[in-house]
Amino acid sequence: MLLLATAVFVGSAVCQPCHPKIAADYAKTPMAQSSGRVTAVPNGEFTAANHRYRVANNRLFFDQGEANFDYFIGSNTAGRSYLFAREGYLFELPVTWYQRASRWDASPGYEHEAAVRLNRPVDPTCLSCHASRLQPIYGTQNRYADPPFIENGISCERCHGPGSEHARDPRTQALANPAKLPSEERDAVCEQCHLTGEARVEKPGRRFAEYRPGMKLSVLVTYLVWQNPPTGLKVTSHVEKLSQSLCLQKSGGKLSCSTCHDVHANVTKGREVCLTCHTVPHGADENCLTCHMPKTGTSDVAHSVVTDHSIPGKRRTAAGEPALIAFRGTADDRALALGYAELDDPRAGEYLKRARPADAAVLLRLNQYEAVLRTEPSNTTALVNLGVIHASAGKTADAAALWRRALEANPAIEGASLNLAKISPPTEARVILRRYLTFDPGSVAVRSALESLR
Ligand code: HEC
Ligand code: HEC
Ligand code: HEC
Ligand code: HEC
Ligand code: HEC
Ligand code: HEC
Ligand code: HEC
Repeated sequence: MLLLATAVFVGSAVCQPCHPKIAADYAKTPMAQSSGRVTAVPNGEFTAANHRYRVANNRLFFDQGEANFDYFIGSNTAGRSYLFAREGYLFELPVTWYQRASRWDASPGYEHEAAVRLNRPVDPTCLSCHASRLQPIYGTQNRYADPPFIENGISCERCHGPGSEHARDPRTQALANPAKLPSEERDAVCEQCHLTGEARVEKPGRRFAEYRPGMKLSVLVTYLVWQNPPTGLKVTSHVEKLSQSLCLQKSGGKLSCSTCHDVHANVTKGREVCLTCHTVPHGADENCLTCHMPKTGTSDVAHSVVTDHSIPGKRRTAAGEPALIAFRGTADDRALALGYAELDDPRAGEYLKRARPADAAVLLRLNQYEAVLRTEPSNTTALVNLGVIHASAGKTADAAALWRRALEANPAIEGASLNLAKISPPTEARVILRRYLTFDPGSVAVRSALESLR
């Protein structure tokens, strides 16, 4: 069989001349503006966990150092996170701009940090929901070509598929149109970014990054969610919330995100949509949304549902033991093993024993690092931990080689740097520790290791 040319991503600018109205409308939406290079940030100061932070002249100053604001994540509807690049490796800054309060504060997860940390790696998972056409460097955890993503925000092709062939010949080469897809494939277009669940487990030999609009996500990954969620736990994605609504459950795939949202124009329909399925049951003149899709205050927290998408009527209460289940279809032993393991739930153990195939993802959880590295040579967890096993057995040269490989995949792994310094002669140890501090100058452990060498 002869192969036809495969479509590749060409960028939203290519679509503009033939779809000018959609392109102009879409450019103004939060999704289109969800990431980019920083031009300027507001000045400000704050204190968190006894650390003083100051933002001035587009730089961050703190106790032990300073850092650049290179890229932003978030359109600034609720807020904005920032990334900085060093030697091509990307890290998250510990400060976030909270738009509603109009001020800087510690990023979620950094509020109580004992030291100001700059070592949180930005892997492609984070960027793939907020930016388009990523350029990760294979064999590293968080290194990218320059620029790390070619297109800001969510491009047309993230929802319609790679457009090179369509742009050449629109009449014979159709792109995916969510409105014409079967319901699972249609919903997958939004789920790739709006469904989080408790864990997302890749199927054996498959990668989430293979997803293209028109496909089912369930071919690539299993999303695990709680059945009878533990008390106090809140679902934080719009897809999960909507799936709890009777409107969705009882309407046979007719209700989708697009029923209410016109994503090109950032327009949301309310009452008139409800009335396409419901005859006015009560409160005829009222806006249905105030009672049935209420807002939970003005949340500043990224990744939380603000508008209740479960469309509640009478409250139903869940009963029974909390357990993980697949969001769609069924979860096999391997998916449950990896899901529970990610949540540090002891039930993982029993499923891990039965998990088939026992591939790198499973072997990592079983601490079989040598086997992991045969298929994933730059897995940093396996490299660091196998190094510890070797060093404990006196094989320091082998250990050193593994830790050096880990630091190539991501030079800001504190444990690998400290370990490597510990088994190296003082002059070399100093070089290793100083290099670490160029990435993460606030590290208390590395500073005191360096101090004790003096
Ligand atoms: C050279 C002009 C041209 C370019 C460039 C172009 N399109 Fe189109 N597109 C068309 C035409 C014409 C149609 C209608 C085709 C038809 O109905 O047969 C269309 C239809 C579509 C459809 C609907 C398909 C369907 O089956 O309903 C989508 C989605 C689409 N284009 C997206 C894009 C995206 C995304 C890009 C950029 C990657 C793009 N187009 C670039 C001309 C173009
Ligand atoms: C699975 C997809 C996904 C991943 C991964 C993800 N985000 Fe988000 N993010 C979203 C979605 C969807 C929203 C908006 C709606 C919501 O809260 O669900 C959002 C909202 C945000 C906002 C608020 C934007 C605004 O202007 O209101 C910030 C800031 C943010 N994300 C930062 C990050 C950072 C930083 C990372 C990586 C460390 C990240 N996100 C990873 C999907 C994702
Ligand atoms: C966040 C996902 C998303 C993005 C980004 C997106 N679209 Fe769409 N697009 C959709 C959905 C959903 C539909 C189907 C709407 C419906 O149900 O009628 C659609 C439909 C279309 C159609 C079919 C005709 C129409 O007007 O409905 C065209 C053409 C199109 N999009 C072009 C574009 C172009 C060009 C861009 C970038 C400027 C773009 N889209 C960005 C989700 C998206
Ligand atoms: C590639 C990832 C991605 C895809 C695909 C995607 N979204 Fe989003 N969406 C986001 C992110 C990230 C935000 C938050 C943008 C911000 O404020 O920075 C968002 C925001 C939104 C918002 C809030 C307001 C707005 O217009 O931005 C709505 C509504 C929304 N998405 C609906 C959809 C629907 C419906 C689909 C499917 C047709 C879809 N999204 C597909 C990532 C995505
Ligand atoms: C695609 C059709 C459809 C749309 C659109 C729709 N619904 Fe529904 N809704 C249903 C169906 C079907 C049921 C289940 C009815 C039953 O089982 O008696 C339902 C049930 C409900 C219930 C009862 C829920 C419960 O938990 O008891 C409420 C409240 C409700 N809808 C409100 C709304 C509101 C408000 C809107 C607009 C924001 C809306 N619906 C949009 C189809 C729809
Ligand atoms: C029955 C109508 C309806 C459906 C279906 C629906 N939404 Fe919404 N959505 C709304 C309303 C209403 C708002 C609030 C809009 C506003 O305040 O301007 C909203 C807001 C949002 C926001 C902004 C953050 C928030 O929580 O206020 C996101 C993101 C979003 N929806 C995503 C989705 C996704 C993804 C789907 C499909 C899984 C979806 N919505 C399905 C009605 C709907
Ligand atoms: C003032 C608040 C309020 C407004 C506004 C409101 N509802 Fe309700 N609705 C409720 C409450 C409360 C219930 C649950 C009643 C019960 O427990 O039996 C309910 C129940 C429902 C139900 C399920 C029970 C039934 O009667 O079938 C539907 C469907 C529904 N509403 C649709 C709508 C629609 C459509 C609108 C807009 C035209 C709307 N509601 C406006 C408060 C409201």
